[in-house]
Amino acid sequence: MNTKTIGVLTSGGDAPGMNACIRAVTRAAIYEGWKVMGIYRGYEGLISGDIKELTTESVSNTIQRGGTVLKTARSDEFRTPEGRAKAYENIKKLGIDALIVIGGNGSFAGAQALASEHDITVIGLPGTIDNDLYGTDSTIGYDTALNTIVECVDKIRDTATSHNRIFFVEVMGRDAGFLAQNSAIAAGAEAAIIPEDNTDIDQLATFIGRGIRKSKNSSIVLVSEKDGGAMHYAERVRKEYPQYDVRVSILGHLQRGGTPTAHDRILASRLGVASIDALKEGQRNIMVGIKNDEIVYVPISRSIKMDKPIDKELINVLTILSI
Ligand code: F6P
Repeated sequence: MNTKTIGVLTSGGDAPGMNACIRAVTRAAIYEGWKVMGIYRGYEGLISGDIKELTTESVSNTIQRGGTVLKTARSDEFRTPEGRAKAYENIKKLGIDALIVIGGNGSFAGAQALASEHDITVIGLPGTIDNDLYGTDSTIGYDTALNTIVECVDKIRDTATSHNRIFFVEVMGRDAGFLAQNSAIAAGAEAAIIPEDNTDIDQLATFIGRGIRKSKNSSIVLVSEKDGGAMHYAERVRKEYPQYDVRVSILGHLQRGGTPTAHDRILASRLGVASIDALKEGQRNIMVGIKNDEIVYVPISRSIKMDKPIDKELINVLTILSI
C-alpha cells in the first residue's frame, strides 16, 4: 500500500504509555516522509473533525507522561453505521490512507466495523491496563498499573498488619483477572478472586483462616472488579465469619494514572514503530503485538475475541506461596 498520510488516535480508557506510543507512531511515520494527523478525543474527534497535524516537536517531552495528549473518549455515535460514515467523510477529506488506533477491545471493535464498511486500512495497537487482548503478551499500560497496585497494596499491608485485619482490595481489569492475579503474587497477598477461576467462599475462608492461624496478623485478598467486586466478598465473609475484622479498599482510577514504567515506554515505542513497518509491508486490519519478545501481526477480529487465558501456573504459584 502506498501510504502517505496516517491518522492516529487513542480511544477507550487511557493507559500509561499511550503518549510514548503516539510519539513513536508520529516519529516513525515522519521518518518515512509521511504526514501524521492527530485525532483528538478518539472516534468522537474523528466524527467532529477535531484533527490536527502532528510534527516531531508536537510529541516532544511526552514519553514520560501518563494519560494521553490526544485525549480519549468512549463514543456512542461511532457505534452506529451513521456515525462511522461521518467519520469516514473526514478520513476522505483529509486524505488519510490508514488509521492507527491505540486502545482496547471496544476501540478495536469500532476499528473493525469501520474497515468492514469503508475503504480504510486500520492498525490496532494494544493500549489498555486490562491486558485482555489476545495475541500480545502485554498491553501498553498494564505493567504501570500493576506496579501502581503493588505500591498501594504494600501500604495497605502496613495498616492491615497493625490492626490484624482482612482487606479485600478491588482492582480494575473489566472481565479479566490479570491485574488481580499478578498483583496478588507481587504483593504477597493471601488470595486473588478473578473471573477466570471460581473461588467459593469456603475455599476463601480456608486461605484466610490459614493466614490468621499462622500469625500473619493480616490477610489481603485481591478482587477483580467483575461480579460485585470486593464489597460482595467482604459482606459474605462478614456474615459467615463474624470473628474477622474486615475492610474494603477500592483502588479505582488511580490505577490508570501515573508516569509509565520503562517496560511500558519500550513496549509502546516498539509497537509504534512496528505499526509503520506493518503499513510499509501492506498489512491491513491487524493488531500489532509482541509475543515472546517478537513483533507479531494478529487479525484485529481475532484480538478482541476475549479469550486470552490466564496461565494456570500463575494461579498455582499464588496458592503455594500464600500458605
Ligand atoms: O478498560 C480499562 C478500564 O480501566 C477497566 O479496567 C475499567 O473497567 C474501565 O476501564 C473503567 O472505565 P471508565 O473510566 O469509563 O469508568
